Formats: sequence, C-alpha cells, structure tokens
Amino acid sequence: MRKTIVAGNWKMNLTAAESARLARELLPVAATLNKTEMWVAPSFTALWAVKEVLGTAPVSLGAQNCHWEERGAYTGETSPSMLHEFGCSFALVGHSERRHVFKESEELVSKRVRGAVAHGLTAVLCIGETLAEREAGETESVLAQQLKASLGGDLVRSAEKLVIAYEPVWAIGTGKVASIPEIAHAHSFIHSVVEGLEFPQLPILYGGSVTPDNFSDILSVPTVGGALVGGASLDAAKFIQLLRTSEGISENRAVA
Ligand code: PGA
Repeated sequence: MRKTIVAGNWKMNLTAAESARLARELLPVAATLNKTEMWVAPSFTALWAVKEVLGTAPVSLGAQNCHWEERGAYTGETSPSMLHEFGCSFALVGHSERRHVFKESEELVSKRVRGAVAHGLTAVLCIGETLAEREAGETESVLAQQLKASLGGDLVRSAEKLVIAYEPVWAIGTGKVASIPEIAHAHSFIHSVVEGLEFPQLPILYGGSVTPDNFSDILSVPTVGGALVGGASLDAAKFIQLLRTSEGISENRAVA
C-alpha cells in the first residue's frame, strides 16, 4: 500500500528566507508521519535554503518544472539532472499555470515528463479541464487527451516514477473545490485511461483549493492518493493540519 502524498506547491511566492522559515516550521512533523509522504516544491531560488533546513528529514524536495535535456542553450530552463544533483526527487510537470499562462503545449509537457524520469526524478503530471471544457461536457476527452499525449510508448518502463495530479483548472486558487462525485468520477476515469494505456495503477492526487476543511472528504474518495496543495501549503499550520488529516485517514486506503 502506497502512502498518501501531501505535496505543497509553493509557486512563486516565498523568498529563500521565507521558504527556509516555512520548512523549519514543517520539520518537526516530518518525523511523526507514518502513512503520509510530505513533499514540497519551493521556487528554484529557494531549493538550496530548503534543502539545508530539511537535511535528512523524510521530506521530498521537488521543483515546479523541469526541462528534458541535461544541458544546452535553453535560457531560463533548469535541467532534470541539475535538479537531481541538487537533491530534488520530483518535479511538477504540466501544471495548469504552465499550460495556460505560459502556453506549454502537450508536446513540451510530454518531453518534460520523459526528461524528468530519465534523470531519476518522479514526474508529477498535472492534468485538468477548464471551466469552459467542463461546461461543454468535454472533461473526459480533455483528460484522456492530456494523458495520452504524455503516457505513451516506453514510458511504461518508468511507471514507478509517475504520479498524476488531477487539478480542475477552475478549482485552482479559486476557493471552488470540485465536489466529491466530480473528483471520484474524474479519478476513476483517469484510472481507466491509464489502464487502457497499459500502465500499472499510478497514484492520482487531487489539487484545487484543498484546505483543512475539505481534505477529509476528499481523502474519503478511495482513488485519491493524496493532494497537490497551493495556497494552503504556504501556511505551516494549515499544511500540518492536512498532514495530520492524512495520517488519520490513510490506513488501508485503496490507492495504488
Ligand atoms: P491551490 O493550488 O491549492 O491554491 O488551489 C493548487 C495547485 O495549483 O497545485
């Protein structure tokens, strides 16, 4: 049984000093977790400071994006081997802000997934529909297309390095969390697509306005393998509450 993943995506919010402070506040909780993996993704400039604070604590450090090549003329990008060398164990890939604000294509997202896993990182592939797509009844086709674009061919050999994060775009940072039936339906659908692509079961996180108030309901969905948390991960007390909620609920969960 895989532990529940509670991943904080700090986005472009904290300086290195602020990130180190937050990491220090989270540190005492890390050693108390039995059923939960704590993951944090600070900004690139804060990775070093956070790594210094975390030391050998059982917290996974990750990046919010990564390139696919080891090196080259890619101004502004960071390579997966550089991140791995730095102590990162995962990278977010295809986050909705990358897809929608920075217009990253499916092709780019797919390359980033492959680059991450090829260099020893776990890729957290973020997928999700916009409000317009949901209202047009296109949620399933969008999720299927996003999964098929990235999970092809020999990537199956690196399946243990893949995590999916289902994040409806309309729920990210809006305070509008998806309903439990919406989450359950999307997660089952994602499992069926992943299976159809002949991948083993992958952990599927939910993301989008997760807070201590809604997390236990979200975790009651058996296919939810954890959460990718933005806003609430910037507040140590709230993030610790999420971790505690996970600890309380995560026994015998039916996640891959
Ligand atoms: P949110 O962000 O929790 O602030 O909605 C989630 C995410 O962007 O991963």
